[in-house]
Amino acid sequence: MEYLSYGKTGLEISRLCFGAGRIKDTCDTFEAGAKLMLRALDEGITFWDTAEGYKTQPHLGEAVRQIPRHKVVIQTKNGAKDYENAAASITRSLQELKTDYVDVLLLHGISTPEDLVSREGALDAYREAKDAGKVRVIGCSTHVYTGAVMDAVIDHPEIEVILATANKEGRLLEGGSLDRHLEYIRRAYDLGKGISIMKVIAAGEIPEADYSEWIEWGFNLDTAHAINLGITEYRHITLDVKLAGASARRRVIQHKAA
Ligand SMILES: NC(=O)c1ccc[n+]([C@@H]2O[C@H](COP(=O)([O-])OP(=O)(O)OC[C@H]3O[C@@H](n4cnc5c(N)ncnc54)[C@H](OP(=O)(O)O)[C@@H]3O)[C@@H](O)[C@H]2O)c1
Repeated sequence: MEYLSYGKTGLEISRLCFGAGRIKDTCDTFEAGAKLMLRALDEGITFWDTAEGYKTQPHLGEAVRQIPRHKVVIQTKNGAKDYENAAASITRSLQELKTDYVDVLLLHGISTPEDLVSREGALDAYREAKDAGKVRVIGCSTHVYTGAVMDAVIDHPEIEVILATANKEGRLLEGGSLDRHLEYIRRAYDLGKGISIMKVIAAGEIPEADYSEWIEWGFNLDTAHAINLGITEYRHITLDVKLAGASARRRVIQHKAA
């Protein structure tokens, strides 16, 4: 597994990120979810992504309870707009994740520049939580959107991390072409923002025979610090770790040759 700095955030992450958005589909108890997360950790996946809305924070919390907290980097999100709801959501996240702090807190699913402005109250709660040591890094996800929303989140000085959609064919991407979107991602990367990509296999909506090729494309994207894959099963961990390892070896060889 390759480990790297998450932009200029000061966090060190595994390049493969466990997207835990749907683990409750396959893990019917918090304990079963925790077991899957801990297996991933055994395989070197130290970067875990969740959100209050996924209802999988308790699964991660059950795993966190069993390990030294510093072993994992936890990224979570909420879609609150105002201060009160965001503050309450942060409190719930800490309780459910069984931790005193989250490493990364994202404004969930920013869709337009206006949407970002409308979250100002929520950002106040994020800032307060950061000052109190309950949150280390603030960022946002942009769901499937590109174009003006990318300009807005890249230009925002407090957005340190961006979780954006990116895949081989630009599938599911709305608001602009894949080529233009990759330019946005490069700009954000060059500014030192932490970049994670999701929808790398188009939420599973491609033929199974193509999964490896699409995941490899994600790992080949040098402007992405983390490749967030929506793992739901042990066999996904096996394949994704294998592809992450192959990519890491390739990157070392390329680095030596350069
Ligand atoms: N707006 C946001 O912030 C936002 C939105 C969506 C997702 N996310 C995050 O991104 C993560 C990834 O979700 P995504 O929508 O981008 O999906 P994805 O990673 O493109 O696809 C995940 C789906 O592909 C299937 N799959 C087959 N082989 C797999 C493999 N080797 N590894 C992983 N998945 C495999 C699984 O579906 P089956 O179980 O049906 O086989 C899985 O649910 C989520 O878990 C969540 O953490 C964030």
